[in-house]
Amino acid sequence: MLKKESIHGMWASRWVFIMAATGSAVGLGNIWKFPYITGVNGGGAFVLVYLLCVALIGLPLMMAEVFIGRRGRQSPANSLRDVAEESGRSTNWQFVGWMGALAGFLIFGFYSVVGGWVLAYVSDMAQGTFNGAGAEQVGAAFKGLLADPVTMLIWHSVFAFLSMIVLVKGVNEGLERSIRILMPALFILLFVVLGYGISTGRFADAFHFMFDFEPEKLTWNAVLVALGHAFFTLSLGMGTMIAYGSYMTKQASIGSTAMAVVFLDTFVALVAGLAIFPIVFANNMDPGAGPGLMFVTLPVAFGNMPMGQIFGFLFFVLVAIAAWTSAISLMEPSIAFLVERFGFRRPMACLVLGVVGWLLGIAALLSFNEWSNVHLFGKGIFDFLDYVTANIMLPLGGLFVAIFSSWIVKSRFSHEELGVSALSYKLWFYVTRFVAPILVLTVFIFNLFFQ
Ligand code: PFF
Ligand code: NA
Repeated sequence: MLKKESIHGMWASRWVFIMAATGSAVGLGNIWKFPYITGVNGGGAFVLVYLLCVALIGLPLMMAEVFIGRRGRQSPANSLRDVAEESGRSTNWQFVGWMGALAGFLIFGFYSVVGGWVLAYVSDMAQGTFNGAGAEQVGAAFKGLLADPVTMLIWHSVFAFLSMIVLVKGVNEGLERSIRILMPALFILLFVVLGYGISTGRFADAFHFMFDFEPEKLTWNAVLVALGHAFFTLSLGMGTMIAYGSYMTKQASIGSTAMAVVFLDTFVALVAGLAIFPIVFANNMDPGAGPGLMFVTLPVAFGNMPMGQIFGFLFFVLVAIAAWTSAISLMEPSIAFLVERFGFRRPMACLVLGVVGWLLGIAALLSFNEWSNVHLFGKGIFDFLDYVTANIMLPLGGLFVAIFSSWIVKSRFSHEELGVSALSYKLWFYVTRFVAPILVLTVFIFNLFFQ
């Protein structure tokens, strides 16, 4: 019943898995979303709660997802089904994979729109639009972009198209090779922006803003956002890591591999915050400005540093690439599923799913202009897609994965897959069995009652 290899292909080595999983994890969530939600939620205490969620819930769940995938060797839904069956449990557990595939789509909808903004900025940077610009001018330009559905549609379409192209080509080609060069380049340019941030003289303020513990600023909603972001940023709760784990070789230790991915993702988020907030404070911008934060601060920084046009251009190219390697991973679970379960050829699966995701993105981008009065549960379409996926669907998916991997799968099997010491296994087991589910449920329940 259980397979040795995935029909979709296999990563060449453990290192390739780390890069692919890091490519999925490191994306707009780190560079765009983390700084802006930290700003909106008042900094300090929010960051601490986020870090706790990453360590206590994110890491064990990343290990769980990877092992389920590697044991099942198929798309998330089919892996869950077979791994459940192997332990003599109900095959209905596959519904977690279905829900995850849906979440992947909904995320792709708004993710591709933001990816499109990044591409628009690549083009602006190439033309030197922001040379010498101040915060007001860039802020107005960003507002102008949001008000312009045609420009957004073009860039969103380009981004969605690029994502689907890679997916058509499959697991092994292209992706592995490009990530190897591009991830290090992203790190270097992040440090260039960090250097500029420090040169503004407001680094200390940024540091205090991010790390001073001020619990009075913390609401239950902020805790939920921190929890949801831990899932979002690590690509957890929707099956991506199950899909990527299904292409992982048997020899690699899942414990240390997952730790590397979690560490890199957290590192990039913190550096992005420490690079962006000094610029915010130096230009008297509002840290709680929302989704536009990165799109206003960074052009100001690049517009005013030596060779900023070149660095700025390169930086946005790399953000686009980080977003691109993540967008791909949003669709992989459902594509693999269509191929396995309904016999779709891969290009056909990509076409069908790509068109649906693209249409969702159009609805999301229209919510900034033509459809700004359309509200779902009090939110515009873009915000709604972001909110339900990150704050409800991913934590819920994660809760089910935690329960599945520690209560449903026989521990003989999970221990065998994880390949960690007996002590580490015990730790993983109890955290996944009790701590993670209780924490997720607590945050959910408190949100219902203390809004
Ligand atoms: N982890 C990605 C980011 O931080 O930008 C977003 C993401 C990708 C979420 C893939 C979920 C996912 F399955
Ligand atoms: Na991330």
